[in-house]
Formats: sequence, C-alpha cells, structure tokens
Amino acid sequence: MKNVSTLMEGQIILPLVQAPSAELGIEIARAMQAGGLHSVEVVLRTPESLAALAAIKKALPELSVGAGTILNVEMLKQAIDAGADYIVTPAVTPKLLEALVSCGVPVIPGVSKPSDIALAYEYGVREMKLFPAELSGGAAFLKAIGAVFQDVKFCPTGGVSEANRGNYLALNNVFTVGGSWVATNEWVAQGNWAAITEACKAANLPA
Ligand code: 3PG
Repeated sequence: MKNVSTLMEGQIILPLVQAPSAELGIEIARAMQAGGLHSVEVVLRTPESLAALAAIKKALPELSVGAGTILNVEMLKQAIDAGADYIVTPAVTPKLLEALVSCGVPVIPGVSKPSDIALAYEYGVREMKLFPAELSGGAAFLKAIGAVFQDVKFCPTGGVSEANRGNYLALNNVFTVGGSWVATNEWVAQGNWAAITEACKAANLPA
C-alpha cells in the first residue's frame, strides 16, 4: 500500500477543500488542480462534505482525494465508502488508531505532543499530521521531535500560511504542509476560482 507522502510526490502543499455543497466542492478542487496540484483533502465539516468528496472523485478522477477531520470509526467508514483515497484525522485514540491501520487506505493521524506520537508509533504509523501545528510548537517542535522519532514524517497543518510554510518545509521530517489559506471561504463565496488557482501555484513553489 502506498503511503500519503508517496501520494503527495511533487506536491508540497496539501490544500483543504471546505465544501458548502457538492457542486462548489468540485469547483474548488478543479481550481486547485488547475494550480498544478494532484491531491486535495476534503474536510468533513459541512453537511454536504461527504457528497462533495464523492462528487469530486467522479468529476475529477485523476485527482487523489483525502478525507479530513475524521473523528471516529463511523466517520472513517463513511469516508471510505465515499471513495476517500487517504484519511487525515485531527487527533488519535487507541480505538481510532486500531481502525485506521486496518482501513485499507493510507492514513495520517493527527498528533500534537510526544505522547500522541508514541501512541501512533505503537500502531505502526510513521506518517502523521501535526495539528494544530503553530499552536503545538511549530517548526521548532518538529525539529526537536525529529531527533527522537527519527523515522516519522509529518504534515503540519493549522496556522500554516504562505508566510511561514518555509520554516516547516526546510525540515527533513516534513513531507508537505496542509492548509486552508489557498482556498478561503471568501473566494469560494465570490466564485473566485482564479484566486484559488494562483494561491495553489504559489504555495507549491519551493519555499
Ligand atoms: C485542519 O483542518 O487541518 C486545520 O483546521 C487547518 O488549519 P488552517 O485553517 O489554519 O489552515
């Protein structure tokens, strides 16, 4: 099975799709794809987000589509049923980790402190999301963690921006950074797809 970092190859930003509807989800993902990206994460935070995930998979079949904000086993099952290519969570519990490691698609469980990392590590997880990245200690935290958990790679998300992404991407235990700044709710409300495309292009340039 591929891991998430392999799915991300050639892409250093994992853009979040916050979809108010399936139709708008497709437009957002299409704009991201036009910005040169081949993978997006649909966060399951709106009533329509599961439908949006399935609709994006159908409309843009060459895109790999992750499901984010997976909080429990039921959401995990729904995301897999909707066609998620990989799974992202904001946090970990033993119950969730047990389901994640046997769910059949790559996963990046969310961690925010050394004990979370140790727990996920026990389940064999070697790629994790640091969330909320800036509030959890940011790049300095990941640098310190790298000395201890030498074979774990991270996708920091939460407070990452165009201005600070370089601090993370300079670390050899970061494979991509995640964020919503490349598709703001304002741009989506305005239908400003060009702004999303340009922000994705900029975010995917070496920092
Ligand atoms: C996430 O879902 O990972 C975060 O809420 C994204 O954080 P951001 O909006 O600061 O990018």
